[in-house]
Amino acid sequence: FFANVELVPGDPILGLTEAYNADPRATKVNLGVGIYYDEDGRIPVLRAVQQVERQLAEQSKPRGYLPIDGLPDYTRATRDLLFGAQSPLVVEGRAVTTQTIGGSGALRVGAELLKKTLPFARIAISSPSWENHRAVFTAVGFEVVEYAYFDAATRGVDFDGMLADLRRLEPGTVVLLHACCHNPTGADLTPAQWDQVVALLHERGLFPFIDMAYQGFDRGIEEDAHAIRLLAASPIRNFVVASSYSKSFSLYGERVGALTVVADSADEARRVQSQIKRLVRANYSSPSTHGAALVAGVLNDPALRAQWEEELGQMRTRIHALRAGLVERLAAHGAPQYDFIQRQAGMFSYSGLSRAQVDRLRDEYGIYAVGTGRICVAALSARNLDYVASAVAAVS
Ligand code: LMR
Repeated sequence: FFANVELVPGDPILGLTEAYNADPRATKVNLGVGIYYDEDGRIPVLRAVQQVERQLAEQSKPRGYLPIDGLPDYTRATRDLLFGAQSPLVVEGRAVTTQTIGGSGALRVGAELLKKTLPFARIAISSPSWENHRAVFTAVGFEVVEYAYFDAATRGVDFDGMLADLRRLEPGTVVLLHACCHNPTGADLTPAQWDQVVALLHERGLFPFIDMAYQGFDRGIEEDAHAIRLLAASPIRNFVVASSYSKSFSLYGERVGALTVVADSADEARRVQSQIKRLVRANYSSPSTHGAALVAGVLNDPALRAQWEEELGQMRTRIHALRAGLVERLAAHGAPQYDFIQRQAGMFSYSGLSRAQVDRLRDEYGIYAVGTGRICVAALSARNLDYVASAVAAVS
């Protein structure tokens, strides 16, 4: 039955982890996948999460099925975190949140919903975008087009190009936007630029699909939700948000994500949610309990929430320091041209390294980066910073 099945290339990001794991060199460094590591090179287990984990272990609750759309304490807390609990849109019941299998699951369920409700729409993603965006939307039958985003000369956003491309899209086109910490470039819009983008989306009748996988990783929980707050306050009545706690709670493998749909009214929201539940049921039936219970346990307890915010703040501050440290070490090794790394936001830097340079880093130094030149700054530490900087400088 499978005799003619083709071998396809490994995933450009997760495939790197497989190659990294198989590499016997002690000096190897994985700058591929977007994971935050602490100074000891470990994925941290946040103290706030540990505390809920202990409570859950003591209670040893039965593991029934969750509702199709997830744990209510989790979805409610997620919605409040995205919009603010006092947001008129929340109070009016216009936002419905579904717990999903990570942010990728949110993108997938959201894509399926939109394919059903806007069957002829295209989707526009940034050039470049997260490697998996195209795959997720193509898988459900969307035609994917790109809008200009990254300016290789300034290493920032090509804002004029972006506006021009968005203006050219047909009304009804879905536009995927990264709320903060753009993956893969680390180049974000300023608040003033967001104002213009939101006005243009409204004027052109475009449908915003926001991907927010890094809330709290650049400037803060509230600040990083700026784009969502702006949309919520705008005349745009419909948009969706795919969000994730993988990074902000350091719960990668628990697959804790959410899809939030903003409808025109509470009644429309209920109807949309009924469709989402049908999609989920036919896909994976219902989400899993543990990760959502951890996140809900933290977000719904004021003391634990404050502790989480502090721990998230520490991760954020450390990433800024790693960026500064990398720039300083690169300059010390004779490569001052990488100073832009300090201006980029979030976990990633679009370093400008070519495919050939990335290959050399892997082959000669055991340093793994994405083929596009994306590196995960959050995987650096005092132990590997100088080694990475000297290797990057050597291949530059
Ligand atoms: C990344 O971009 O590295 C992360 O979002 C992890 C992933 O699934 O690709």
